[in-house]
This record gives sequence, structure tokens and C-alpha cells, in this order.
Amino acid sequence: MRVLFVCLGNICRSPTAEGVLRHQLRAAGLAEQVQVASAGTGDWHVGKPPDSRTRAAALRRGYDLSAQRAQQVSAADFGRYDLILAMDHSNLGNLKRLQPANGRAELDLFLRRYHAPVDEVPDPYYGGEQGFEHVLDLIEQACEGLVNELKGRP
Ligand code: 4NP
Repeated sequence: MRVLFVCLGNICRSPTAEGVLRHQLRAAGLAEQVQVASAGTGDWHVGKPPDSRTRAAALRRGYDLSAQRAQQVSAADFGRYDLILAMDHSNLGNLKRLQPANGRAELDLFLRRYHAPVDEVPDPYYGGEQGFEHVLDLIEQACEGLVNELKGRP
């Protein structure tokens, strides 16, 4: 099973989701069965580590994102992943335009699929510290839903 999280820059929201899911999968004993990655629809930050504010907020909750490097999503990813999860409606729209007709990956809005109280993870890039905490709150909750779904798979 392969999961790809996608946001705009791949330096704030999707790297956070990658780190949180990996952590929760380890705790659930599913780390061997599920591969996790993240990517951005844009290419501005390719090769860079996650934003320093994102890394600091994640580390305060025990998630080390320092080894991650930004990459851009491609049409080929629809053949590489089983599940591609978008952080907001704009990301989802961009992914739908990229999606090949024969791609195997299932594509969905991350929070909507796991019944979070809102359906988008807001972009924290131009906001304050609180935005990064809010991103973590939403992602932790939705990742629990995702891990529960994965536990039920054969
Ligand atoms: P992300 O946040 O999509 O959560 O990684 C952003 C990071 C950078 C930019 C926009 C959003 N940017 O415009 O550079």
C-alpha cells in the first residue's frame, strides 16, 4: 500500500502529513506494510527541506521532518501510488487535471475522506505560529482515520 500526500509547495502541509502518518503507522505496527510520501503541485521548493516553522511545530509534538525533501507531483505518480490525498480543493483540482485516464491511484480530499470537522487543511505559509499548530491538529485527527482504515485492510 502506497500513500502520497499532496499540497502546493510540499514544505508545510503534506510533509507534516507524511511525518505524522509515518509516526502513527509505526505505533500501529503497520510501518512495513504502508509506504508514505508527499509532493507539491508546484515546483518552487523542489529539493528543499520542510519550512523551518513547520519543522519546529512538528518537532514539538515529536515528529522529525528534517530528512524530507520537497518534490513535485507528476502524472506518473498516479501509477505509483494507491491513494493520493490532497490538502485543499485547489490541490485536488490541480491533481484532477494531471490524473491520467489509466492511473490506478484513488484520489481524494484528505480531511473529507476521514470526516474531519472541516474539509481543507488551510495553507499556513503566510500566517502566524497558530496556523502551524492548527495544521497539526487537523492532520493528526485525519491520520487516525486513515490508520483505522488501513488496519481494516487485508
Ligand atoms: P504548503 O504551503 O503547500 O503547505 O507547502 C506553501 C508553501 C509555499 C508556498 C505556498 C504554500 N509558496 O507560495 O511558496
